[in-house]
Amino acid sequence: MTDESTVLIFDTTLRDGEQAAGATMTVEQKVEIAHQLDRLGVDIIEAGFPISSPGELASVQRIATEVTRPIICALCHANNAAVDAARDSLKDAARPRIHVFLSTSEIHLLHQLRKDREEVLNLACENVARARGYCEDVEFSPMDATRSDPDYVHRLLEATIDAGASTVNIPDTVGYTTPEEFYQLIRGIVENVRNIHKARISVHCHNDLGMAVANSLAAVRAGARQIECTINGIGERAGNASLEEIVMALRTRVDTYELTTNVDSTQLIRASRLVSEHTGFAVQPNKAIVGKNAFRHASGIHQDGILKERTTYEIMDPASVGLAGTSLVLGKLSGRHAFRKRLEELGYQLTDDELARAFESFKEVAEKKKELSDLDLEALVADERRVISEAFSLDHMQVTCGNHETPTATVRLLDADGNPRQESATGAGPVDAVFKAIDRIVGVPACLEEFAVQSITEGIDAIGEVMVRVESDGMTYVGRGAATDIIVASGKAYVNALNRLIANRDLPQASPAEKVGP
Ligand code: KIV
Ligand code: ZN
Repeated sequence: MTDESTVLIFDTTLRDGEQAAGATMTVEQKVEIAHQLDRLGVDIIEAGFPISSPGELASVQRIATEVTRPIICALCHANNAAVDAARDSLKDAARPRIHVFLSTSEIHLLHQLRKDREEVLNLACENVARARGYCEDVEFSPMDATRSDPDYVHRLLEATIDAGASTVNIPDTVGYTTPEEFYQLIRGIVENVRNIHKARISVHCHNDLGMAVANSLAAVRAGARQIECTINGIGERAGNASLEEIVMALRTRVDTYELTTNVDSTQLIRASRLVSEHTGFAVQPNKAIVGKNAFRHASGIHQDGILKERTTYEIMDPASVGLAGTSLVLGKLSGRHAFRKRLEELGYQLTDDELARAFESFKEVAEKKKELSDLDLEALVADERRVISEAFSLDHMQVTCGNHETPTATVRLLDADGNPRQESATGAGPVDAVFKAIDRIVGVPACLEEFAVQSITEGIDAIGEVMVRVESDGMTYVGRGAATDIIVASGKAYVNALNRLIANRDLPQASPAEKVGP
């Protein structure tokens, strides 16, 4: 449904979200997220920035072919080659949109573009018109709009709407604005741009001062009807406005905003976990809506209130974001049928092969851990999925360590063809020894930057999840692994990170000139 009381949700997790340092995803992972965004009901998916590399173009193309309900958008600079790459990536899209951007602030014009205002205006119009020649749905963004001269932004918007833009997006590129100021900026556009009735106003807020969501909501009060945002708020630097917060704020405070979205909020948790899994970015426990603690009540008074009447301390029903409670707990006596059924209820559609592997791990863990919660099951499935189509997988590991021992690890990995490769190493500790043995097998230069362990649930037998971040050639790669033994989980996480590194290294790379991103 689209009318003046609906705010369109433009998801840019796969474009701006992926720009977050270390968030590189494979094409398969992006396609899986795009399908989840479709289930979530977002109106527009910004699938990528096709000029940046042939791999990126192919990834947008694949999403555009497979995901047909939402509008699929491709981003481009205001130059002919970039617009043409966006067109090529969308050639099979059922509902294509080309998104052209160009900086408008004096700082960017002077130091980055080295062009004057008239040149920028002409370039913007020329490329919007070019995009419009390829597709009816064209969006234009004056980058760094919140630090630009408002009169110039008005003039530019008027000209780009005349050139064919049907959406004009106002980015707070550096997360500088405040809700009051942004409200005034959007009101100024509504009141001063002659032909604004021919376009939808969109906003795109970054979170450098922690105000991206507040700024976006101020903008809809001023007349914006599209919000650009990302799952878990990931994105360049401090990230973008968080989709789940925007959607639930509009829904919970409908008394204030009197606006709606087309999003099915019960899919939010699933989307959040999928993005966290594929980017390797853990969601902080206190994150609004999707954090582990967002619906947990620790204080006695609060628990007492909740037991008497949920609304005493809960402004949202956990079920409304997809946190359905379950009394079904799986354990070692549970069969494949119950396992599959629970996973389906959690929203997982596994292939037979994936199910067989996940069930095998489930049985292994259930031998050590009496009961497995939904969080445990999700960690197991995620772990199994990481193994599919990767260059190396962990087959066997043996470690000795102790206060009078030199930590020593023997690790056997299987390569993509299933051939075993084994090495041993000693290290400062058991994890160090495991990583060194893996390095000997994989043989790619990588430097460990971060290592973190967390338990998925409570208890001494909890599944441990390890996150590692490695650096190679100026790029960072995140890997994750889960197991009841944290040394095994560490080995899996390290192999996962190296697999990402190898996958990225094998992708066709952009030329330096093309690589300049938004
Ligand atoms: O932050 C920004 O300005 C952008 C534009 C490309 C919309 O991401
Ligand atoms: Zn951005």
